[in-house]
Amino acid sequence: MNEEKVLIIDSEDSTCNLIKSILSTRGFQVSIAQTARVGLHLQEESKCFLIFLDLNIKDLDAQYIIREINRRDEMIAVIILGYPDSSNLVQEALNLGVTDYLYKPLKSDEVYFKAKHALELRKFTFNNSKALKGIEERNLSLQKQNLLLARRIEESTKNLSRLYEDLRETYMRTIKALAHAIDARDHYTYSHSDNVTRYSELIARQMNVEMQYIEDIKDACQLHDLGKIGVHDNVLSKPGALTPDEFNEIKEHSQKGAQILEPLKFMDKVIDIVKHHHERWDGKGYPDGLKGEGIPLGARIMSVADSYDAMVSARPYRKVGLSVNEAIEEVKKNSGVQFDPAVVEAFLKVVDRF
Ligand SMILES: [Fe+2]
Repeated sequence: MNEEKVLIIDSEDSTCNLIKSILSTRGFQVSIAQTARVGLHLQEESKCFLIFLDLNIKDLDAQYIIREINRRDEMIAVIILGYPDSSNLVQEALNLGVTDYLYKPLKSDEVYFKAKHALELRKFTFNNSKALKGIEERNLSLQKQNLLLARRIEESTKNLSRLYEDLRETYMRTIKALAHAIDARDHYTYSHSDNVTRYSELIARQMNVEMQYIEDIKDACQLHDLGKIGVHDNVLSKPGALTPDEFNEIKEHSQKGAQILEPLKFMDKVIDIVKHHHERWDGKGYPDGLKGEGIPLGARIMSVADSYDAMVSARPYRKVGLSVNEAIEEVKKNSGVQFDPAVVEAFLKVVDRF
């Protein structure tokens, strides 16, 4: 067995022969080198796992030999041989990492015991280092797998988010198509939602509203009269004045619009604006009679844009709409009553771009 290969580096015949005779009878294969140079050469050739090294060998410095032995095989076991009066040399050698030491004259049972112990220690260290290497390799492989999984998760998340966006887009297109169909039921409100969207965006930008909320306002403008789907044609297109019941039916449209959109949870801000676009600054609007800044900003903006477009458009009860100047005057008159004064102020700055 390889574990039993031993090398003795010692110039004294008596020491070499003693160790050889002790270990050979116990199954060790023993080589002998009587100079350090030959010893270092034999270390590589014999692939031994244990070296007995005489600290007093003459041809090379003992510390140099130990470093060379370790450089060639960091797992090798080394037992140094010294004299009790050279304990300093022994200590220096131990500091360099040799496994053990023996003092001359040697005792046969000590030689065998220390050789066996040094080889067991070497084997233990070797196995530990192999296990450690195995753990490191497994760690590396796990890290690679983790990286791969993380990439797959990232890819899946991207795909999911693309799917979600597609789904959202499809929902929006369907709902907008429906809203446009409702616009088309009234000849006079045809393109009304597009107008309200354009005006609201101009006002919101003038008020420095954040971009994402402007997108919500635009979506809400497209959908604001969605609830009119439930209003009868004869009420919607009635040329004369509405009865209180008919007016109540019309008033329900903002609430109904919000109810239709309610399952689309991602549109909560849009739904809020749709629901409250007929609230008034003075609290006399519907459906909840919200007041002042209690009304969502998007709804306050849309309220001005919606009313202005209604004023300048022909209605069933009014064949010709108000002139632009008349409508602007009407909006001004209602600032702080029906409309948020801050929104009216922004409206006045952008109305010439409508
Ligand atoms: Fe409305």
